[in-house]
Amino acid sequence: MVKGMMLRALLALIIGIQVYGSATFITKKEYAAGLYHNPRGIGCQLCHGEAGEGRRIAAYKDKGEKKVFEGTPINKIPFSLFYQRLNSKIVGMPRYYLTDTEIQTLYYYLHREEFKRAAAQHRKAK
Ligand code: HEC
Repeated sequence: MVKGMMLRALLALIIGIQVYGSATFITKKEYAAGLYHNPRGIGCQLCHGEAGEGRRIAAYKDKGEKKVFEGTPINKIPFSLFYQRLNSKIVGMPRYYLTDTEIQTLYYYLHREEFKRAAAQHRKAK
């Protein structure tokens, strides 16, 4: 009786580990996409667009003057600026306190086609 219960518990544990294990095997691209859409806070795409191309968030009038609030394009800036800005306070944007690896991953995500092209070219040249 006790033995049976232990066996079942052990089995559940093994199956649990396997399911958990397989769920954590995601590709770098999937991880990067997940981080871009769901960082600790609201997704970057909501203000910067799916590809980081920039996005108008709101248009309004202030003292009769037309104004727009927009997330600037972030897919064409050098890594140094990307890194610097993400480590400082940006007006109109939540502060995320991302790790260096997360910032690299986000930059990779925004430039993944470039990386793919460079890698393909490198393979061809060999
Ligand atoms: C609530 C809207 C909002 C969200 C969400 C948001 N941003 Fe921003 N972000 C902005 C605004 C607005 C600016 C421009 C501020 C300015 O004009 O200086 C900006 C600026 C930036 C800049 C600086 C661009 C430059 O040329 O100097 C970077 C880099 C950036 N955001 C990255 C991100 C990343 C990565 C995420 C997700 C982790 C994110 N942002 C989420 C609103 C947002």
